[in-house]
Amino acid sequence: MNAITPHLTTVYLWFLILFSLGIISICKHLITLLRWVHAALFKPEKNLTDYGSWALVTGATDGIGKAIAFELANKGLNLLLLGRNQSKLQDVSNSIRSKHNSTKIKLIVLDLTIDMSIGINQLKSAIKGLDLGIVVNNAGATYPGAMYFHEADAAVWDPVIRVNVEATAWVTSVVVQKMAERGKRGAVVNIGSGSSVVLPAFPFYAVYAASKAFVDMFSKCLHVEYASMGIDIQCQIPMYVATKMVSTVKTSFFVPSPEQYARCSIRRIGYESRCTPYWPHAIQWWFCSFVPKFILNYVRLQIGIRKRSDRLRAIIEDE
Ligand SMILES: NC(=O)c1ccc[n+]([C@@H]2O[C@H](COP(=O)([O-])OP(=O)(O)OC[C@H]3O[C@@H](n4cnc5c(N)ncnc54)[C@H](OP(=O)(O)O)[C@@H]3O)[C@@H](O)[C@H]2O)c1
Repeated sequence: MNAITPHLTTVYLWFLILFSLGIISICKHLITLLRWVHAALFKPEKNLTDYGSWALVTGATDGIGKAIAFELANKGLNLLLLGRNQSKLQDVSNSIRSKHNSTKIKLIVLDLTIDMSIGINQLKSAIKGLDLGIVVNNAGATYPGAMYFHEADAAVWDPVIRVNVEATAWVTSVVVQKMAERGKRGAVVNIGSGSSVVLPAFPFYAVYAASKAFVDMFSKCLHVEYASMGIDIQCQIPMYVATKMVSTVKTSFFVPSPEQYARCSIRRIGYESRCTPYWPHAIQWWFCSFVPKFILNYVRLQIGIRKRSDRLRAIIEDE
């Protein structure tokens, strides 16, 4: 009996330690979720015109960028809309002006895959003399479909790096310099992706996910560098949003329309360095944090394999 008692005490002690660690871990996760949902639903929106009277949106001709441009006009900002297609830009401008006829709009026709050491001059002259307060680096490019990296020739992945990485860096360097020089507040929002933050890997879209990992880390570093100058740099992390980039995904509770997403997106401008503005996305992210990485990798791999097969089948049928 005397020999068993210390053994039971040790077992009991271990049980207590593990139980306490479990409770602490659950509480930590719950607090994270509550913080995310609180931030998404209850934090008051900043007065965006305090940053300046103009906002720049890249990739404003479609999807999230177009919807964000509408929301910024709703908040009283004048707009610089950047896109590669003149007539699409004009259409967006016309429809914004039909609702907000006092909004001033300037268009910048610029293909972000070109050599930006030259292309950036267009942006520099467009923003000259403007009270530019908000910049949304939204333009994004991805693969035409799921594929192994060796199947994607440079014509597929090079534009992804140019638009998602190089153009984001070029645009940010110009606008941040302008914001720092004028000594007033400013906000830069970079649109990242759950593919590089929420998931441990995003097979079959490797360069896309890697480019978004750049956007995430770039934003985190600049957030720290520029906070003391009053420039709020932030990376927003969407999961799926029903746009032409993910044309097979339909709107649902977890997949907002670009308009729904944009309303949430602009409510978060000026807060933390990384956020997921649409709260059902925060819930998805939270659940993913419990799933072992090898399971998430397996599931994504299967999705990638299926999407690749669908793409190849569609190509064969077209021929
Ligand atoms: N939709 C999603 O599920 C999802 C998820 C995570 C992250 N994101 C990110 O969200 C951002 C917006 O994507 P979206 O879903 O709204 O896609 P989208 O509907 O395809 O819009 C992308 C925008 O970027 C523009 N763009 C693409 N290449 C360009 C180039 N070379 N030069 C200038 N503009 C260019 C497009 O112009 P055109 O109109 O001429 O094509 C369009 O305005 C992207 O950064 C994307 O990576 C989206």
